[in-house]
Amino acid sequence: RGDSGLSEINLLKRQVSTLEGQLRALQSSFSKYKKVIMFPNGRIVGEKIFMTSGYEGNFDSLKQRCSQAGGQLASPQNAAENAAIQQIVVLYNKLVFLGINDIQTEGRFKYLNGENIVYSNWQTREPNNDKGIEDCVEVYSSGKWNDKSCGEKRLIVCEF
Ligand code: IPD
Ligand code: CA
Repeated sequence: RGDSGLSEINLLKRQVSTLEGQLRALQSSFSKYKKVIMFPNGRIVGEKIFMTSGYEGNFDSLKQRCSQAGGQLASPQNAAENAAIQQIVVLYNKLVFLGINDIQTEGRFKYLNGENIVYSNWQTREPNNDKGIEDCVEVYSSGKWNDKSCGEKRLIVCEF
């Protein structure tokens, strides 16, 4: 048992070091494929990925498409996430709708899951519910937010 036990340990050591090499190769390959997949329409912020397909539509249509893809309409929870969305707005030169609205209660902006927002980046004098019909939130190229009618067509940005 003594000798065969030693050779078994050596075999395991070789297997572990083979696996370590394979893991390193996989990691460097994955890191490259991430760059490819994110170019030029995606942004990674922490665990979150923001992505546009270039599609434009009204709020309901954007919401449905993100959910169909297994994600949801972009809902930035901090300045870094908002900056990633802003970059996509600038890249496409098209405003986007966020996964935020005050459809249920005027003036109380919520995420799609019904929770109150924890972060906002309103433009000065917004939200103003102009003409009483602005329940959705668009992002300007400055990254600032404006409440806007949900029936307008905006660029899709989903988060995954
Ligand atoms: C804006 C537009 C927009 C409304 C904004 C206003 P502006 O006025 O009326 O629809 O949502 O709140 O500031 O900047 O085009 O004169
Ligand atoms: Ca407004």
